[in-house]
Amino acid sequence: MEKDIKEIMLTEEQIQAKVKELAALLSEEYAGKDPVFIGVLKGVFMFFADVIRNVTIPCEMDFMCISSYGGTTSTGKTDVRKDVSVDLKGRHVVILEDIYDTGNSLDFTCRHIMNKQPASLKVCTLLDKPARRKPGITLQPDYVGYVIPNEFVVGYGLDYNEHFRNLPYIGILKPEAYEK
Ligand code: PRP
Repeated sequence: MEKDIKEIMLTEEQIQAKVKELAALLSEEYAGKDPVFIGVLKGVFMFFADVIRNVTIPCEMDFMCISSYGGTTSTGKTDVRKDVSVDLKGRHVVILEDIYDTGNSLDFTCRHIMNKQPASLKVCTLLDKPARRKPGITLQPDYVGYVIPNEFVVGYGLDYNEHFRNLPYIGILKPEAYEK
């Protein structure tokens, strides 16, 4: 796997430091609110697990999965493959995401969750890649770990053709790895 990585963008230590910072902010903001954390699978699984184990307040968690179409560019995704099972009406909800790229996923997910009438909805993403944002997407995540340049990144849950998710860091994929 390492041979396909051009450069490490964020080390394991940098990611874990940011995770602790975000978890502390969330624990403070949602104290006494019994929030529901929702992870959008699959990419978020590592970030979700790391954040949640550093959250120090009572909370619930759930996951959803939306349709995606492989390759290096994410296209419009509009189908729910797995919905949340917790009743979100009147609850304080926080969506966790690994990356906010074109914005299709979060835009769709937020609309979907808002239909369930939560008391509040906020978004926490580890990575934000603003250069790739699709015109018309106006959502501003409430918590952002790192704003990153327009590079194809893998690792820490992020994949290329379902591989590289298990790297503990975030690396830039060599173009040869996805051009072949
Ligand atoms: C990735 C990532 C985000 C989404 C962000 O998911 O996990 O959910 O793309 O891209 P966007 O802002 O352009 O929508 P992907 O569709 O690759 O599915 P995965 O989570 O199963 O890897």
